[in-house]
Parts: sequence; C-alpha cells; structure tokens
Amino acid sequence: MTEKKRAAILISGRGSNMSALIDAARAPDYPARIVGVFSNRAGAAGLQTARAQDIPTATLAQSRFDTRLDFENALTGILEDWGAEIVCLAGFMRILTPEFTQRWAGRLINIHPSLLPDFRGLNTHARALAAGVAEHGCTVHFVTPGLDEGPAILQARVPVLPGDTPETLSARVLAEEHRLYPEALRRVALDGTSKPGGVIT
Ligand code: GRF
Repeated sequence: MTEKKRAAILISGRGSNMSALIDAARAPDYPARIVGVFSNRAGAAGLQTARAQDIPTATLAQSRFDTRLDFENALTGILEDWGAEIVCLAGFMRILTPEFTQRWAGRLINIHPSLLPDFRGLNTHARALAAGVAEHGCTVHFVTPGLDEGPAILQARVPVLPGDTPETLSARVLAEEHRLYPEALRRVALDGTSKPGGVIT
C-alpha cells in the first residue's frame, strides 16, 4: 500500500464515531491513520477515549478568541502541526466559516444522521418520525459552506419500525454510522472522491 493518509478527527462530545474510525484505522491495510483528535469542548468524553489510546489530542475554547475566524486559524495551526491531510467531523457541534471549509475543500468530511438532503440540521430522528418516513439513515459527505449540503460520499439506510421513538431510531442509525464512517474515510483516503449516490448495505 502507498503511504497512509493522515486523518484528524474533530469532536464535541461522546465520540463514538471517532472510536469507530480509530478502531478501523488499526488495521494494517486501512489507508488512513488517525494523527490527532481535536475538541472545542475540553470536557468532551471522546477526548479521554482518544488519550487512553495514545492518540494526540488538543482543545481550544472558542471563548478565548475574538472571532470565529481567529478560532479556526488556531485550529488550522493544530491540524497542520499534526500534518493532517483529511479532517473528519464526528459530532463536531460548531458551524464552520466558508474560509475554513474552502481551506480544506475536498479533504473535510462529516457524518450526518439522516439521508441527506432530507433532515439537514438538528433533531433528525424526531423529525423523521414526525414526517412519517418509512426509511431513515445516515450520510457521510464532503463539507461545503452550506450546512449539511456538500456532496454525499456514502449513505446507509435503516427501516423506521412501528413504535420507534427518537431514541430507538437513533440507536439503529448510530450502529450504521459506525460502519459507514470507516468505509467512507477508506474511500476518500484511497481515491479522494465521492461516488454520488453510493449506499452501503
Ligand atoms: C452522531 O449521530 C453524528 O451523526 C452526529 O452527531 C452524533 C455524534 O455522536 N453528527 P458521537 O459523538 O460520534 O457518538
């Protein structure tokens, strides 16, 4: 295999998708390695998980910065120190400026818990139930300036079952997220492209 791509992960909380990526990247033939985990919240549980696995971590409190751009420039400095070539958002609860998304265009990816373009934004599971959809799921996509708008790399679908609550549906989707994200990063690390409409089954 050619050199592994250097991937950083940005989180704000629990970090279960981060863990799925770290676990996948342990395989000798996986084409990316995780070079660091960043959080905008020092108390994010995922930071402990990463540290316990000897992965470098960093945090920056946005309150220390006058502007969003100042914060992001400091973040870019950290990512460059790690030599990051791909940046994976995994529950990173902060809107990024167009300057940042353009700086990392084609190398910045996100996981969103819906079948985009349906249910952009928050509370996707409750909204899917309220809409009465028969299928729900998750999407890994390239990040562009518009919220949850960039081209999809891969999607996974789950059925919505009778009696589902936002919690039961979220758990079903999350299990798929943990399969989907490592596969999407694998594809981006290998060829850097998306296959529009790709679905894993
Ligand atoms: C996931 O549902 C992800 O799709 C969304 O935020 C959640 C993060 O969960 N963007 P975790 O921190 O990866 O456990």
